[in-house]
Amino acid sequence: MSARQLHFNAFLMGCGHHQAAWRHPSSAVEQLGDISYYERLAQIAERGLFDAIFFADGQSAGDPSSGPLWFLEPLTALAAIARKTSRIGLVATVSTTFHTPFHAARMLASLDHISQGRIGWNVVTSMFDVEARNHSMSAMPTSNERYARAAEFVDAALALWDSWAEDAIIADRADIFADPDKVNPIDHTGQHFQVAGPLNVPRGPQGRPVLFQAGASEAGRELAARYAEAVYVVAYDLASGREYTSDVRRRIALQGRDETKIAFMPGLVTYVGSTEAEAQAKKAELDTLLPTKQSLAQLSTFVGQDCSDWNLDEPVPTLPPASDFPGPQGRYATILRIVETEKPTVRQLLGLLAAGGGHCTMIGTPEQIADKIESWFVAGAADGFNLMPPLLPHALEDFVDQVVPILQQRGLYRTEYTADTLRGHLGL
Ligand SMILES: Cc1cc2nc3c(=O)[nH]c(=O)nc-3n(C[C@H](O)[C@H](O)[C@H](O)COP(=O)(O)O)c2cc1C
Repeated sequence: MSARQLHFNAFLMGCGHHQAAWRHPSSAVEQLGDISYYERLAQIAERGLFDAIFFADGQSAGDPSSGPLWFLEPLTALAAIARKTSRIGLVATVSTTFHTPFHAARMLASLDHISQGRIGWNVVTSMFDVEARNHSMSAMPTSNERYARAAEFVDAALALWDSWAEDAIIADRADIFADPDKVNPIDHTGQHFQVAGPLNVPRGPQGRPVLFQAGASEAGRELAARYAEAVYVVAYDLASGREYTSDVRRRIALQGRDETKIAFMPGLVTYVGSTEAEAQAKKAELDTLLPTKQSLAQLSTFVGQDCSDWNLDEPVPTLPPASDFPGPQGRYATILRIVETEKPTVRQLLGLLAAGGGHCTMIGTPEQIADKIESWFVAGAADGFNLMPPLLPHALEDFVDQVVPILQQRGLYRTEYTADTLRGHLGL
């Protein structure tokens, strides 16, 4: 068995990552408020020996007519899921723009206790003005402001988690509960936060929950370089995966950290079939459920201009360079790359964006998908993947039951868990 092993996260999102998934006759659209649905999904991923399940998060309701966006809040949902799983890691998104370090550190530390050391934190700075308006701001601060706040936020959270020494608790009934010399203030005084500390949750099993990051911009990559212990990547193809991964690895090394320890996990949408045609048919079945008007409206937000009158069967009009685009850089750069390499029609672009928004898509037999995964892994474009099943639970089950065994046979993936914590699964 080779030393280096693949890592998989299951990115759980509503009925699945395809925007039309909820319209599918077999979708779980009636169960989105039922915690047992997510518990079952986590159990499937745990059966597949995934490192973690992952929940994204946002702070606005979206357009309720176009499909479900958010439902259960991730941290509270993970508390329940922790009780129905035993080994798999649990990663939640917490925004540094809208929370405070004390709140976030406290909830994540509490969850680390509840899950017995399986919590990860996807550090995000959030994106949209509609989110800001729910948090006493009229608009989002600039990206640079958000990332400056994020760095200070993470520093404060790390200090809070370290404010209880590992051996602080004595629990001597005849004497003291904890050694006060081992529970210390942090006295953080910065530009955004004043946090005295110590935290009011004693140190969790992992010490520090595992930090995930997915920055694409200069500031985002620098934040990942400083703090990330695992990185979510948007890469449409192997070349862009390798480009991103080697750039951020270089930045991590410049920070004096061991870049070989950090798992890079591009998002991966898979359609698995017993033949390639069957896999393509699964995709087409979802694509036909896509409402064109809404898809064009969403594309408008991705590219920062009104696309509602774009002709579906014409090539995508020329888009301004990334440097002229004021919104989230990562997805925009991906769209530019798809347009450049595939010269799609508008309709084709909508189909590609409908599942995973420009993340890598693999369509085929289990062997074909295993081959592609192996090629990314061997080329250094990925250490594993953040699986984005287009339709839940089916696409997750297909992957776990059909692709995972092949990767195991090839010695690329664990055949059992060898650790109890998320940190352990990631070899940190
Ligand atoms: C897999 C993945 C999950 C993400 N989850 C969230 C999320 O839940 N909430 C959020 O506001 N941003 C999320 N993001 C966005 C990133 O945090 C980041 O803003 C984005 O990749 C663009 O990078 P930039 O901020 O450096 O421009 C996610 C990105 C990726 C790739």
